[in-house]
Amino acid sequence: MLGWQGLAHRYAGGAEIAYDDFELPERHHLLLRGASGSGKSTLLALLSGLLRVQAGELHVAGTELQGLNPRALDAWRGATLGVVPQRLHLSDALTVAGNLALPALAAGQGADTARAAELLAALDIADLAERRPHQLSVGQAQRVALARALMRKPRLLLADEPSANLDDEHTLHMLALLLDAAEREHCTLVIASHDARVVEALGSRDDVVELSLRGRSDDGGSMASRLAGLGRDRTTFWSPGSLS
Ligand SMILES: Nc1ncnc2c1ncn2[C@@H]1O[C@H](COP(=O)(O)OP(=O)(O)OP(=O)(O)O)[C@@H](O)[C@H]1O
Ligand SMILES: [Mg+2]
Repeated sequence: MLGWQGLAHRYAGGAEIAYDDFELPERHHLLLRGASGSGKSTLLALLSGLLRVQAGELHVAGTELQGLNPRALDAWRGATLGVVPQRLHLSDALTVAGNLALPALAAGQGADTARAAELLAALDIADLAERRPHQLSVGQAQRVALARALMRKPRLLLADEPSANLDDEHTLHMLALLLDAAEREHCTLVIASHDARVVEALGSRDDVVELSLRGRSDDGGSMASRLAGLGRDRTTFWSPGSLS
């Protein structure tokens, strides 16, 4: 489904972030772990074609991304990817139904109202279609963001830190939504998280492969050891839920 060889990325003026070669087996989801700065979001941006492959090879859903020009990458992204952003990015100027239609309209296509209705029903929020995002609870807004990501039947669903700013209950709820949707829609999940609650919830599943990014030797790792030196428990530091 996806994998890479010799993959590396360097931001202008920054050190190189190198990724060990990896291949995700079919019918498995990927949990990307690693300390802050280890390159999780960078890898998601590479997987979604938002960053060009500078070094190595990267294939996603049967396509070699390093061979695509920007225009082909845009078309590929629209047809293949769904993204659940960390801050849900729902537009309060639009209703729930309008938010679901927006990606298609932005791509110059007609809104697929049947698909929107199907997803809202599947996510149990059919009665919220005419509400505005500020009239939704946190959990309802999560469902809307997920429905929007699924509108174009993606083969790959990316979620960057889906539990950030969420309490324990909403974190588990979001993970269950993502896993249910992936199963129903036959798509592969890639979740980036350094949240101990996410790792605990997903790590024990047979269909989830965990990949720990090492990051550069001069940032995330040394921060962890500095914290250890201060006598703080690292798990406590990474997990907001464990502080409550
Ligand atoms: N736009 C950018 N320009 C320059 N450097 C960047 C940029 N984005 C990220 N970096 C650097 O690249 C490295 C990897 O960042 P990345 O955002 O991928 O880490 P992450 O694992 O997602 O971290 P976090 O858990 O904090 O979200 C970091 O050292 C970061 O400072
Ligand atoms: Mg990140």
